[in-house]
Amino acid sequence: MKTIKVRDKEFSISITAEKIQKTVSKIAEKINNDLHGKVPLFIVVLNGAFIFAADLFKKINIDCEVTFVKLSSYVGTQTTSTVRELIGLDEAIKGRSVVIIEDIIDTGITMDHTIKKLKHFKAADVKIATLLFKPDAFQKHFKIDYIGMEIPNDFIVGYGLDYDGFARNYPDIYKIVGN
Ligand code: IMP
Ligand code: MG
Repeated sequence: MKTIKVRDKEFSISITAEKIQKTVSKIAEKINNDLHGKVPLFIVVLNGAFIFAADLFKKINIDCEVTFVKLSSYVGTQTTSTVRELIGLDEAIKGRSVVIIEDIIDTGITMDHTIKKLKHFKAADVKIATLLFKPDAFQKHFKIDYIGMEIPNDFIVGYGLDYDGFARNYPDIYKIVGN
């Protein structure tokens, strides 16, 4: 089996690039159908979602805009309960149809924070799209409108997801071997 070493840890292949691309296409198709005529603003949560967002955005065929926020809650392979906001929103959100783009929803703490912030800016409608969702780790209650794949509660890297900043560049997704 294909494995990679990222710093001190070993990872084995979990989701192929081909499977990822099929999943991204399915999400794009749903968004194209649901948000036709609404001119949505996509808000991409950096850093992790940048590759997913780029692939997804190329498959969106309705009028839309994109912007970026940078949030961080992870240190190494562990989530921390405080979300540090690094770059805030500077677009006009009021009255807009917004789609938040995440690479993965794990505990849901990051997304919960983002949703609350957007409600404060009075978006007309806030939808959530995530490539990956870990249902066993989820601690919140918000609705996720678009989920690419549900995955077990293992630490993963690749396709934008990192271990201490590394391995974002792999086109496939790998899961940690052991712990
Ligand atoms: P949450 O706040 O616990 O839902 O975590 C959200 C953020 O943590 C995601 O946007 C990712 O950037 C990061 N994250 C969560 N799970 C993993 C993982 O398995 N590998 C790498 N990063 C992860
Ligand atoms: Mg992320």
